[in-house]
Amino acid sequence: MAVEPVVAQPGMAELPSETAPGTEPGNPLQIRNMEAEDIEFVSRMLVDAFSDKFEHAVGKNRMEGAVQQTVASLGRSQDVWHRYRVAVYEGRPAGAMAIKFHGDSAMGDFSCGEACSFLGCGTCGLICMGAALENDNIPVGQCYLDHIGVDASFRGKGIGKVMLDRADHEAREHGCTAIFLWVKKGNRAVHLYERQGYVITHTFGGWFKRCATGSRDWHNMEKQL
Ligand SMILES: CC(C)(COP(=O)(O)OP(=O)(O)OC[C@H]1O[C@@H](n2cnc3c(N)ncnc32)[C@H](O)[C@@H]1OP(=O)(O)O)[C@@H](O)C(=O)NCCC(=O)NCCS
Repeated sequence: MAVEPVVAQPGMAELPSETAPGTEPGNPLQIRNMEAEDIEFVSRMLVDAFSDKFEHAVGKNRMEGAVQQTVASLGRSQDVWHRYRVAVYEGRPAGAMAIKFHGDSAMGDFSCGEACSFLGCGTCGLICMGAALENDNIPVGQCYLDHIGVDASFRGKGIGKVMLDRADHEAREHGCTAIFLWVKKGNRAVHLYERQGYVITHTFGGWFKRCATGSRDWHNMEKQL
């Protein structure tokens, strides 16, 4: 006997939607792939959202240099653009994140000479910070969420939550069974991640992370999809 497909009933919780979060027509929040026009926004947002570790790495008086260095490097690094998503709220760029899957070994085009011209001796700090936080070990079937940030003027409106929903969606579409991220111990964002279903699996770090990022303890948080 043929089985009737399940259909939504009045009053029933809505059925899982195939629509990617951040693509619903009419929604003021849209999430799309990064394009060339986003380089300046993504670079500035990364430095601003993670200003504590950038300040630690390059020095407080070189933050604009860090933005310009990121603009120049990201601008040349088209090979890594596919990882970035940009959240646009009412037509204005509001947030960004990077999504990395197993086997994605694309490298950004970083030039030491160029970094020196923007950062002087802050270049060493930037290189150490990059080395301490680069994650090249994404297990099969898992997705790594990196660099999630929302511009300060847009925070607390639920944009971060939708970006996390979107990352879940893309990870599932890639056949992943888990998604994970690294977050500094004590970062308020841990509450958001817990509400989204992430749990702390372990805390790691040590003297090199402390020297390179200013924080000794980092949480690995993971969500089963
Ligand atoms: C974390 C972040 C991406 C969340 O985006 P958002 O649009 O503000 O998030 P939502 O509105 O969906 O959810 C609000 C939650 O975000 C987190 N949040 C808000 N402002 C934050 C801030 N300045 N720093 C860290 N987390 C923050 C909190 O958990 C907050 O919940 P709470 O009010 O119960 O504490 C954004 O706040 C941000 O860019 N923070 C600075 C960069 C950062 O810490 N990124 C995470 C690195 S792992």
